[in-house]
Amino acid sequence: MSKIAVLAGDGIGPEIIAEGLKVLHAVASKHSLTLEFTEALVGGAAYDATGHPLPPETLTLVQQSDAVFFGAVGGPKYDAIPDPNLRPERGALLPLRQKMGLYANLRPCVLYSSLAAACPLRPDLVEGGFDILVVRELTGGLYFGQPKLWEGDRAVDTCVYTREEITRIAHVAFKAAQKRDRRLLSVDKANVLETSRLWRETVTQVSQDYPHVALTHQLVDATAMDLVRRPQSFDVIVTENLFGDILSDEAAQLTGSLGMLPSASLGSGTFGLYEPSHGSAPDITGTGKANPLATILSAALLLRYSLGAEEAARDIESAVTHVLQGGFRTSDIMEDQNCNHVTCRQMGDLVAGAIMRDNDAPG
Ligand code: IPM
Ligand code: MG
Repeated sequence: MSKIAVLAGDGIGPEIIAEGLKVLHAVASKHSLTLEFTEALVGGAAYDATGHPLPPETLTLVQQSDAVFFGAVGGPKYDAIPDPNLRPERGALLPLRQKMGLYANLRPCVLYSSLAAACPLRPDLVEGGFDILVVRELTGGLYFGQPKLWEGDRAVDTCVYTREEITRIAHVAFKAAQKRDRRLLSVDKANVLETSRLWRETVTQVSQDYPHVALTHQLVDATAMDLVRRPQSFDVIVTENLFGDILSDEAAQLTGSLGMLPSASLGSGTFGLYEPSHGSAPDITGTGKANPLATILSAALLLRYSLGAEEAARDIESAVTHVLQGGFRTSDIMEDQNCNHVTCRQMGDLVAGAIMRDNDAPG
């Protein structure tokens, strides 16, 4: 039996997690997986109820689980909390990543052929699709460096990376590249930053262990440009925390919508945290406009990386492809009026239905 902590959080979090759970239940019954789900409070919802965005009970549950299925945290209401360390992002999500040692964030950016028209780039630039894996370092850099402070008219953030931190994320990226097209692009700002110079030297050293992977280096500004100029030229991108945050949103938009981008945050074992790459979207909360596909695809990553249930993971991914091919679209990926507009809940029903129908099919 696998134990999954369910942390829905704020804004559209509960809506998208409900659809993700619907799909996980469907796939679990089809593949005879025993999944035990336990819900807990996180983010603003936890702050409102307990005074802290990551209550000790939630952390204990997470530590006793095999994986975390995470929605989203934050919202305008919580931006006003005076202590920044009690705000949902810095008080819950970042500590969860850090305390659980989740240093590797995988964000697969795939352009589904049926969504080609939702991609904002000229059709000839993306014909035939693209498949980019962003490997983002998740527990170092500016997000966590000390000191971090704001005093009057002066504020400080500190960027720190150690050779060890860079080495371990580089191994994750090379291993991923080995299973794909064997091309790894390491992104830094080595013309300006010391951390980037160490990054470049360390990734180059690690590359000696992977003679079959072609490693190239590029500055982050040039990569931002190339993502919109020639997205098909990328295979795996490895980069530090903040650059990865920015580049993965850019790559996500190329797939039609940030609402399509799942993520897996992993450490050295099989434990992982799975969440859509987007935020809590307070502007559309409760409207039915949220796209649950990033969350549903994150559930597939959970099955793949934490539970080793590859077939079940693929089943979810092919159900998503099938539903998109059927022309069903949430608001964010509606490219024209010929598509069938669906709500968040209907999208979840369609994906779960596609999984179960396949189940009933003979053979
Ligand atoms: C992400 C998000 C988070 C991040 C925020 C919510 C702190 O943007 O997961 O990409 O910056 O890591
Ligand atoms: Mg982000």
